[in-house]
Amino acid sequence: MQLVLQAPAKVNLYLRILGKRADGYHQLETLLQTVELADQLVLTRRPAGISLQCDDPRLGTGADNLAYRAAALLARQLPGAVGVHIQLKKRVPWQAGLGGGSSDAGAVLLGLNRLWQLHWPLERLAQLAAQLGSDVPFFLWGGLALATGRGEVVRPLPVRLSGSVFLVIPPFGLSTPAVYQALAPSTSAGTGLPSSLDSRVAALSDGTSNLAALLQNDLEPAAFALRPELQQLKHSLLAHGYPALLSGSGSCLFALPATRPTPPLTDLLPAGYRLIVTRFSPGSGGPRQERPGCATN
Ligand code: C5P
Repeated sequence: MQLVLQAPAKVNLYLRILGKRADGYHQLETLLQTVELADQLVLTRRPAGISLQCDDPRLGTGADNLAYRAAALLARQLPGAVGVHIQLKKRVPWQAGLGGGSSDAGAVLLGLNRLWQLHWPLERLAQLAAQLGSDVPFFLWGGLALATGRGEVVRPLPVRLSGSVFLVIPPFGLSTPAVYQALAPSTSAGTGLPSSLDSRVAALSDGTSNLAALLQNDLEPAAFALRPELQQLKHSLLAHGYPALLSGSGSCLFALPATRPTPPLTDLLPAGYRLIVTRFSPGSGGPRQERPGCATN
């Protein structure tokens, strides 16, 4: 038996640091949204053992790959022998803040739940997903969601965003731990208080018209300190009418369609930068209801 799965990329429309935790992670409040750009995975059932093949030779195919780790972690929870061969076609740039590796891991958990006929509820899969990475639980739902804790407490939102998103991919990546380490102590400390995000998210219920006003990312100053050229590019995009923001810890900047007649975005990109035009995508189950079972706040 074989399953073909899409593992979509995400952007963070909003990311606020609320403080640093005793375990070294940062307490977050973030709004994530999947896009149509996706890796593709083919899962083939085997009697026993886990193997991974990837079309990008720069990526590892063992325990250093989150897709492999997801399968191994799930297999360890099961009493009998299970096996899978995973073929991974990478389309999502990595070290870009687009969640590619996390999405692959989420897709593997969802796929193996079917392939191995486990019938686990998403909330149970989410507990494993959180062990793999802070962003992994979000990808079990996709669409638009509010994430808190270190990012692993996910509340899917019943709002369907539509429209184009421009992903600006620099010729370099950024390491997530390095960006968090570069946070100024004042940002890292945060205010400890949740924001008025709920009311601002409610204003999104009419689609994308209020989206540009929501864009904020507290990781930008740290990423821009490591790569000042990203700040210059963001300023240039804004100056030409494109609402723009760093996605997650970068290095990708994403932009929304320009608010006024302006040069095409490709004209604004320095040499070596790539543009990927994509669209917001709904979660895997289409427009969804809020799932109180997976949120703890
Ligand atoms: O959870 P994940 O493995 O994706 O996190 C990668 C790194 O990003 C962590 O080791 C930590 O340095 C940083 N991080 C953080 N606070 C978060 C999420 C990630 O400090 N909420």
